[in-house]
Amino acid sequence: MIPTLTWTPEGVRFIDQTRLPLEERYVLATTYEKVADVIVTMVVRGAPAIGVSAAYGVALGVLKTKAATSKEFAPEFEKICARLAATRPTAVNLFWAIDRMKALFARLLASGATLVQIQERILAEAHAMYKEDIAACKAMGAFGAEMMPDEGGVLTHCNAGALASCGYGMALGVIRSAVERGKRIHVYADETRPFLQGARLTAWELMADHIPTTVICDNMAASLMRQGKIQAVVVGADRIAANGDTANKIGTYNVAILAREHGIPFYVAAPWSTIDLATATGDSIPIEERPAREVTHFAGKQVTPDGVGICNPAFDVTPAKYITAIITERGALRAPYEESLKGMVLVS
Ligand code: MRU
Repeated sequence: MIPTLTWTPEGVRFIDQTRLPLEERYVLATTYEKVADVIVTMVVRGAPAIGVSAAYGVALGVLKTKAATSKEFAPEFEKICARLAATRPTAVNLFWAIDRMKALFARLLASGATLVQIQERILAEAHAMYKEDIAACKAMGAFGAEMMPDEGGVLTHCNAGALASCGYGMALGVIRSAVERGKRIHVYADETRPFLQGARLTAWELMADHIPTTVICDNMAASLMRQGKIQAVVVGADRIAANGDTANKIGTYNVAILAREHGIPFYVAAPWSTIDLATATGDSIPIEERPAREVTHFAGKQVTPDGVGICNPAFDVTPAKYITAIITERGALRAPYEESLKGMVLVS
């Protein structure tokens, strides 16, 4: 299994995603501040991986405290959560994980738990989130595999794979599961400018699994669709609003429109922790603006004239009307999403 993030006695060990695919290096975070730093610098990235990383960050903060009692520790706990929450704004899994830790901490405090008991329970909760994430990916894979063509091209954007989760992956989990069931799929991976998650990460992890993969530049998808080379699109998500509008890596919206124009199904695969029923529509999803340098430089070399204006939103919102189905660990949902999302909360 790809070691995206691993708990060790010293802290959390991350595969450094900024170095892949040319170097397989690891970063050890022994403090919550370091975990926040690896999220900001995208050593670890991808919505579910960010969520579980933050959970382990909270656990590190709790384990490393110098406070003597749980009461004395309470203000420090708030500070730890606030630091981790201030890393990246779009992926709701980050806030979902921190809120889950806050709720557990409040329950433990109210029950009079000692600091040692709190340390044990918070770490156990982070481990539970890690395991749940892998199980959710496997379940999404099983639901989504049926929607994949028996044979043909599947386009994906960014990296919604093992590297964006604790293992197996969301969009790539669906593809893995389809391949495990004997489907003959050829993956087309959008390179995904400017951070190149598709070219660097999706291609790397699919090649490790011997799944046939072709990297294309982001501007090639329409032409391939027109040539009949793409039978389905599957992507991940960073936040899904209550009406099904979906924030995902910048460029996803373009792909969704192209898929509609060419009559190709467009699927979103995401765990329930990515669904944000408190956000009514995609218009209210905060979109992270990344540093200009990611656009002005390519592989460390400046490619734009000094002083030119730069726009670098990390995500866009695909309106729900372009989404054929949202594949979750609870099942595949179809439009109207206001109803199917609410219905899925009720049955689960
Ligand atoms: O900026 P990133 O690399 O963290 O963005 C990741 C994506 O947009 C993925 O496509 C998304 O998280 C799906 S993986 C659940």
